[in-house]
Amino acid sequence: MNPEIKKVKRTVRSHHCGELRAKNLGEEITLCGWISKRRDHGGLIFADIRDRYGLTQIVFDPAVAGSDGAHERAGRLRSEFVVWIKGKVRARPEGMTNTKLATGEVEIICSDLEILSEAKTPPFAIEDESDASENLRLKYRYLDLRRGPLQRNLLTRAKVLSIVRNYLDGQGFCDVETPILYKSTPEGARDFVVPSRMNPGTFYALPQSPQTLKQLLMISGMDRYYQIARCFRDEDLRADRQPEFTQIDIEQSFMDEEAFFPILEGMIQKLWKEVLGVTISAPFPRMSYHEAMERFGSDKPDVRFGLELNDLSGVFEKSEFQVFSNALQKNNRGIPGAIRAIIAPGAAEKFSRKDLDELTAFVGPYGAKGLLWMKVVPSATGNASEVDIQSPAAKFMTDAEKSALKTKLGLKVGDLVLCVADAKAKVVFDALGALRLKVGEKLGVVPKPVDQKYAFLWVVNFPLLEFDDKEGRFFACHHPFTSPRPEFFDDFIAGTNLDRIEASAYDLVLNGVEVGGGSLRIYRSDVQSAMFKLLGLTPEEAKEKFGFFLEALQYGTPPHGGLAFGVDRLVMLMCGASAIREVVAFPKTASGTDLMSETPSLVTKEQLDELGIFVRQPKSVD
Ligand code: AMO
Ligand code: AMP
Repeated sequence: MNPEIKKVKRTVRSHHCGELRAKNLGEEITLCGWISKRRDHGGLIFADIRDRYGLTQIVFDPAVAGSDGAHERAGRLRSEFVVWIKGKVRARPEGMTNTKLATGEVEIICSDLEILSEAKTPPFAIEDESDASENLRLKYRYLDLRRGPLQRNLLTRAKVLSIVRNYLDGQGFCDVETPILYKSTPEGARDFVVPSRMNPGTFYALPQSPQTLKQLLMISGMDRYYQIARCFRDEDLRADRQPEFTQIDIEQSFMDEEAFFPILEGMIQKLWKEVLGVTISAPFPRMSYHEAMERFGSDKPDVRFGLELNDLSGVFEKSEFQVFSNALQKNNRGIPGAIRAIIAPGAAEKFSRKDLDELTAFVGPYGAKGLLWMKVVPSATGNASEVDIQSPAAKFMTDAEKSALKTKLGLKVGDLVLCVADAKAKVVFDALGALRLKVGEKLGVVPKPVDQKYAFLWVVNFPLLEFDDKEGRFFACHHPFTSPRPEFFDDFIAGTNLDRIEASAYDLVLNGVEVGGGSLRIYRSDVQSAMFKLLGLTPEEAKEKFGFFLEALQYGTPPHGGLAFGVDRLVMLMCGASAIREVVAFPKTASGTDLMSETPSLVTKEQLDELGIFVRQPKSVD
């Protein structure tokens, strides 16, 4: 055996790498960590040693660390070697202190060194700022996680969960674990299914959320429940969506919004104070879904800046311009489309033709058939108090319309109006809601994470149902267990005015991100059955999917409700990160794969046979 290996027993440290200060001068210490940099200055060798807590400078002087070959070993050190060192803390020479480093006043003059393990040259440098591609970083995630920003994010995440547990425990909420192998819990995504070997041909579904389970716990009388719950949703992924993610899932009996919101607001205030040192005032403002859509074109508005939407239907109600007249016609369910616009103040000159073409292309994917721009220019009459409109649609606008437009929007020379019209109001809101953010960025009015501006907002009174044109039926906007607001009960039971029924559903929005969502629940089995019926489920289908739940509702169900926060999104915003991948230890790519372990992967024919599964389009093994 290599004698070096036999000798290596010295794996314990007296301090960590971020700990030593001037007060430790003269102390004999031991440190363990990774070599982050080595500089050879002829006789003297300098190395930085790094761990989760920080970085300390080590000096290898042949006169001190030479006796036992430590200095010679120091010559072999490379980045990411793991070492144990022994030495004495001394002050850095005059003018050599590093004020950017917590340990920057001191250095360790090494008397002994063990190389605990060597390292291959890493595929990218382990530094706070990395220009390595994200795919490379994901393939070597364990190295990526050595970088300071990611370590700090994981520590913040752990702190958040610890504070949340403490807070909710203190409020009398009981932490209950619920199964991962379960039955479909509809939250609007596809299920991930798991085949059952013992019951061939049958499948578990991984929970999209513990929704039915937490409601069953209310029926059990648990009264106040929470869980840091892992959820699974097979849906298209984005920067703020992972196929598996974590919720702070909460449910409470005998409550309403007035009783419930302060508990949740208290939790947020505590988190922001203890993690970021920021005071958030409560109660948080509330805005109806309707108002959020009308003003911001979004049910998760970033209310930190303006650029609000304006309704131009009145101005163009008699317009002969087809874009407008088509938009205002009612559909077969008697619902008209919409004409809305945002004003970008002073942008008429700032945005080039190319910019406008780009913005037009930008709204396309939201279903918008075009983007009509109108520039406010000085009037050709030369009269300084008059303005004129320049636009591809100017020739279709009457003077009265132009004048109504100017008055309604309070337009000034240099303003740019960006308008979308469509027979489907949703297209207009989606397009302008997204355009507002884009234009906000271009104009530099959207605050940056470093600004630490946090605008919490409750969006309340969501519609209960949403009509899907393709499927020709209604879907639940939140989930099918959400109660209609009491004033809409009659319509709900009668099945009338379904488009207009509002739900006791609420989202918590922070800076334009939905960080939580919940509702008061249906607690009567007849109402729940009516809901399934409205959603197009036959009594047989309802029984097959939710029979156990409908039955449970008949055994004395307390009025109850709850909410789930998205942990990943909350932590992302607290860390100022731009994607939840940055706050998840081992995230998946946008195509749902783990690049490090190459998951999902094939299983053996034996496994498939055991499960009674025949794969129609096997992926070739190459
Ligand atoms: P909802 O579906 O609104 O409600 O989810 C609650 C919160 O979970 C977060 N979230 C996600 N985070 C990351 N990746 C995803 N794919 C993802 N999907 C959702 C969001 C969201 O606000 N059972 C209900 C809650 C309830 O009614 O009590 C539910 O799951 O931050
Ligand atoms: P067109 O009549 O198709 O040449 O369009 C005239 C202008 O109206 C162009 O600038 C289009 O981008 C714009 N436009 C077309 N459809 C819409 C729409 N649905 N909403 C807003 N602008 C549109």
